Amino acid sequence: METIIVKDNIEGGKKAFELIKEGMKQDAKVLGLATGSTPVTLYKEMVASDLDFTDMTSINLDEYFGLSPENPQSYHHFMQEQLFSHKPFKETYVPDGLADENSEPARYNQIIAEHPIDIQILGIGTNAHIGFNEPGTSFDSTTRKVALTDSTIESNKRNFDTVEEVPRFAYSMGIKNILSAKKIILMAFGEEKAEAIKHTIEGPVTTEVPASVLQQHPNVVIIVDEAAAKLIQH
Ligand code: GLP
Repeated sequence: METIIVKDNIEGGKKAFELIKEGMKQDAKVLGLATGSTPVTLYKEMVASDLDFTDMTSINLDEYFGLSPENPQSYHHFMQEQLFSHKPFKETYVPDGLADENSEPARYNQIIAEHPIDIQILGIGTNAHIGFNEPGTSFDSTTRKVALTDSTIESNKRNFDTVEEVPRFAYSMGIKNILSAKKIILMAFGEEKAEAIKHTIEGPVTTEVPASVLQQHPNVVIIVDEAAAKLIQH
């Protein structure tokens, strides 16, 4: 894993954008995308750029179970606002929060199989989850309906009016889907991610720290600001 330490999330967004641009020059056609506050500066760079994404495909990591694509708190809506309404893609995929749990996981795994991901963007939870793959998730997991942990519900409540409104379940790509990407760029900004980043980079590879599995992938870049990097050796 390569670790790049940047001053702040603005510089981090620029760095991630450079890597995407490089990838596109080398013919990357499928981007795996993430939600949350972390990739916002990257999406701003993409929107401000003169790059054309109309021959690109995007596949998002996850979606809250039970939220419609039009719901302002859905990840569909977030992606539309942050990126897709400004920069159209050829096709964009996000799990359908209203779809049947008996068919949606297989449908989404099939989409990933048909569009192998060239570059996967990841944020990280304070408990080191990636996507919504919470501690304890098998490294062999694929897309499925997952229960969110109390700590994730607590962290994500800032995007809802009350904690009761935070969905308790989501559809998430699994760890195996994430590892199938040719290149992975994980971004983390802020002191509240420092512990998760330390365990991810320096700790043992364990399902208790989902992001630690990235140590086993051959092409991972971790972009962290100084606050998130403060507990790692450098
Ligand atoms: C959610 C998402 C993750 C994201 C994490 C961190 O739980 N499912 O993909 O990485 O939040 O969010 P933030 O970037 O806002 O800190």
